Amino acid sequence: MLRSRVLGTGSYAPKKVVTNFDLEGIVDTTDAWIATRTGIRERRVSVTGGATQMAVKAGKAALKSSDVNPKDIDLIVVGTVTPEMTFPSTACFVQAELGLCPGAPAFDVSAACSGFLFALDAADRYIRTGGAKKALVIGVDQFSRIVDWSDRATCVLFGDGAGAVVLSGEKGNHGLLSSHTHSDGRGWEMLYAPSPVQPSRFEEKCAEKPYLKMNGNETFKIAVRTMEEAVKEALASSGLDSDDISLFIPHQANMRIIKAMKERMNLPDEKVVMNLEKYGNTSAGSIPLALDEAVKGGRVKKGDIILFVAFGGGLTWASAVLRW
Ligand code: ACO
Repeated sequence: MLRSRVLGTGSYAPKKVVTNFDLEGIVDTTDAWIATRTGIRERRVSVTGGATQMAVKAGKAALKSSDVNPKDIDLIVVGTVTPEMTFPSTACFVQAELGLCPGAPAFDVSAACSGFLFALDAADRYIRTGGAKKALVIGVDQFSRIVDWSDRATCVLFGDGAGAVVLSGEKGNHGLLSSHTHSDGRGWEMLYAPSPVQPSRFEEKCAEKPYLKMNGNETFKIAVRTMEEAVKEALASSGLDSDDISLFIPHQANMRIIKAMKERMNLPDEKVVMNLEKYGNTSAGSIPLALDEAVKGGRVKKGDIILFVAFGGGLTWASAVLRW
């Protein structure tokens, strides 16, 4: 059976660090409030480049670690909701800038914080059905561009970043064991960002400011419940239980959400990857950035079972189980 195997990972976070203390000078907040309610201590902000540059840097690093010739990449999928342009897609820019196979399909996937897992799922389907042999899958977002820097309820939560994997279709037991994606558009008002340029029928939502808006409290509750269901679905479909998990890499939105899931799955700290204290919520960048750090930090060994789960605007949610 053909599976999508990860040959290499890469990530990129901008150099500029914005600490909670820096934010104390911008909005009415404190380091203590942010750290205790979210676990975030600092985030990165891209001041010189956009999502494309971050995606290119993460993609380049993933290609280097996979030792794959860029010309052999015959599929590029990027999860993002902050592309530099409405079109072309970020994936097309990445294809051109990294010299990937001309003519290969390249497209973006819009699923907010679940964007990387949706992109991974799409690439996996191409690979398993013979539509591609080697794929570059990237998650990237630049939320510093779409948050309202005068709204303390949201601006403290997000940061910029990107992560990438190179996938290859290979026979055997290693690679993606299961992947599930879900959406429920009825919940879109929980979390959204109006388009700054397009006229919209949602005039009253866009009239104020074209920035991200979130009902944090409700989103929190739905996120915990939904991600728990997503974990159950992922484990059941892979024939695994939580004891089989070597590493749990959840979307990095809030330390309290991650801790609640860790307790429900009865996982020890060392099996849970949490890096949001350094980056905040980087949306589609969060899971591949955390994966790359775990790989570089020696936390992933051959044969390990890795469980990923995400929740985001849309509403969207997704899971994936991978044997390394
Ligand atoms: N500093 C100080 N006080 C603040 C701040 C701040 N930065 N932000 C809010 N407060 C205040 C509020 O005004 C409120 O004050 P009040 O009680 O006087 O009205 C109080 O703190 C509590 O506010 P809550 O919103 O109830 O705080 P909560 O504990 O729910 O934490 C948070 C808010 C961190 C946003 C949390 O709800 C959360 O993490 N939600 C989920 C986010 C998420 O998972 N999103 C999905 C992915 S994102 C994507 O897809 C793009």
